[in-house]
Amino acid sequence: MNPLQLDFKDKSAVVTGGSNGIGLAISRALAGSGASVSIFDLPAEKPAEAARALGGRGFEVDVTDWKTIDRAFAAAGDPSIVVVNAGIGETSPFCETSADLWNRTIAVNLAGAFHTMQAAGQCMKRGKGGAIVVVASTNSFDGEANLAAYNASKAGLLGLIHTAANELGQYGIRVNGVCPGLIRTRLTAGHFADPAILSGYFRHIPLGRGGEPEEVARTVAFLASDLASYITGATIFVDGGQMASKFGVWTEAEADFDGQRWIRKG
Ligand code: NAI
Repeated sequence: MNPLQLDFKDKSAVVTGGSNGIGLAISRALAGSGASVSIFDLPAEKPAEAARALGGRGFEVDVTDWKTIDRAFAAAGDPSIVVVNAGIGETSPFCETSADLWNRTIAVNLAGAFHTMQAAGQCMKRGKGGAIVVVASTNSFDGEANLAAYNASKAGLLGLIHTAANELGQYGIRVNGVCPGLIRTRLTAGHFADPAILSGYFRHIPLGRGGEPEEVARTVAFLASDLASYITGATIFVDGGQMASKFGVWTEAEADFDGQRWIRKG
């Protein structure tokens, strides 16, 4: 076999929030490379149905209710790959952000992620190690107006990744993160439906476009695989270069926006 090929044969994986968007793409990528995948998601998102299409199993989990996480790990068996992906993102001006929005966002994106990582660590310590991959965000690093709770939750994930990597390395457990930019999912459907928003947004992205869930999934699969055997405590941007761009690169003088991406003239 090509030594650079991803191979998850005999591996079992858990993906939280795996019924939709980026999580579903990750579940498909892992299952497509041989992993047996368990999707943990809210009952309304029908995780069993989503998983069945991949030959996997689904478990009804609300990550804000830690008992449901523990029950699902006990039923799924000890995985060697856990992808911490479940998340929500609601906008509100900084000064008007309610206690309810703040608490809900932290409960899903940060506390839910924390307990999923704890449970994953416990399973992997019992087994022969493993890989935890956390879906953070470019917003883990920089600000975006009207997303105080989301940004704080995603910044907090970096603290969890770094701390868990320190503690779990000795057990053969690697802990890494991906930081997606704007990716086409239901969370961002409003953005992708409006070319006026996109042209301004993508002006600041060297690759001139938004990302697809599969592009994040491939990076997660790499970090989860033995190809990343010497990587832990790291985060990788999957953002078309957005975080490397200070002033933006695309101008009407040299390029046209076709509704979805910037393309050089001529
Ligand atoms: P999505 O809304 O399509 O998927 C989120 C999934 O998380 C859904 O299946 C949802 O049911 C699940 N979920 C939400 N609350 C849950 C809870 N309490 N318990 C269990 N599952 C729960 O959104 P998308 O875009 O696929 O987001 C996935 C992750 O990627 C999130 O953590 C998000 O913050 C992150 N992300 C997304 C970006 C984007 O541009 N779409 C950019 C950067 C990060």
